[in-house]
Amino acid sequence: MFDKAEKLKNDILNATVNSKDELELFRIKYISKKSVVGELFAELKNIPNENKREFGAKINEVKQAAQDKFKALIVHLENTNGVESKVDFDLTLPPSRNEEGSIHPITATRNRIVEIFERIGFNVSEGPEVEDDWHNFTALNFPENHPAREMQDTFFIEKNPDIALRTHTSSVQVRVMENKKPPIRTLSPGRVFRNEAISARAHCIFHQVEGLYVDENVSFVDLKQTLLHFAKEMFGKDTKVRYRPSYFPFTEPSAEIDISCNICKGKGCNICKYSGWVEIAGSGMVDPNVLENCGIDSEKYTGFAFGMGIERIAMLKYQINDLRLFTENDVRFLKQFKTVQ
Ligand code: PHE
Repeated sequence: MFDKAEKLKNDILNATVNSKDELELFRIKYISKKSVVGELFAELKNIPNENKREFGAKINEVKQAAQDKFKALIVHLENTNGVESKVDFDLTLPPSRNEEGSIHPITATRNRIVEIFERIGFNVSEGPEVEDDWHNFTALNFPENHPAREMQDTFFIEKNPDIALRTHTSSVQVRVMENKKPPIRTLSPGRVFRNEAISARAHCIFHQVEGLYVDENVSFVDLKQTLLHFAKEMFGKDTKVRYRPSYFPFTEPSAEIDISCNICKGKGCNICKYSGWVEIAGSGMVDPNVLENCGIDSEKYTGFAFGMGIERIAMLKYQINDLRLFTENDVRFLKQFKTVQ
C-alpha cells in the first residue's frame, strides 16, 4: 500500500499537460472525489491499526502533492498558452532583473544647478541652438572684429555668415531681455558649440548654464552673494569663492569666479594644479550697451550675469578627469551614477 501511494505521488509529480482538456483529466484523476487519491483514503480502513497513522500521513502527502501540482500546471498552461514549449521552465526561479538606466551626470548636474537657482527666484528660459549674429554676438556688444566671431571658434552655417550654432547661451538672455521688462531673474541652460579639437579638457559640443538678473539697484554685491550661495549649495558649506578681474564684451566690470578646490579642500592637488582654487564661471555686471540693445533703460536698471560649463561643474563634483567620458556612452561609466538623482 505504501508503495502504491509512493508511486502515485511520483506519477503526480511527473505529470504534464498541454491543454485545458488534459488539465481537466488531471483534476478528475488526482483531485476529484472519485480520484485515485480518494481511493487511497478508502483503503485506510483495511490498514492494520498500528500503521494507520503513518499511512494517513502518506496519503495526505499525496493529496497535497496533487493540489500543488494542479496549481503549477494552471500557471504553466497560462504561460505557454496551451502550447508546450521545448524549454523546461522552472517556475520557482526568480525572474531575471531588468537593467535599469540612470540619469546622465550632465542632466543630474543641470537639474541640481537649476534647482539651486529656482529656490532663489530664477526661472528657466530656453532658446534656439541655431542663432543669428545679433543674438549670439552683436547685441552682446561684441566688436566687429572680435576674434570669437571668427571661424576657428564658431560653427557658421555654410553660405550664411549671419547664422551660426550658438557659442554660448547668453543669446537666450538677449531674447529674454528683448521680450520681457525687468525685474528679470532667469537661467538659461543648454547645449553650445565651439570649433575646438576634442580632448580630455575641451569638446566642440558642451553644456552651459547662464544666469541673468536685471532690476533696479542690482549691484556687484548681489552677484557675489548669489554665486557664493550657489557654490556652497553645490559643493558644500565650507566652499570659498574668489573673483578675478577678467574681460567679456557683454559685462563691465567682469570677473572670473573660482571656488576653493572641493577635492583637496584648498590644500593643493592635481585637479587644482596645486593652487587650491578651481575656476567655475565667468561673470560680471551687464554692460549698459547690452541693456540698451535689448530695449532696457540702462539709466534705470542694472544687472549681473554669469555663465558656467555644466561639464566643468560635473567634473569637479564627481571627480571626473576626462570630458570625453560624458559622450562615449560607456555603461561602466554611466552605471556609477545610479544613485544620483
Ligand atoms: N558667455 C560667457 C562664455 O560663454 C560666460 C559669461 C556669461 C561671462 C555671463 C560673463 C557673464 O564664456
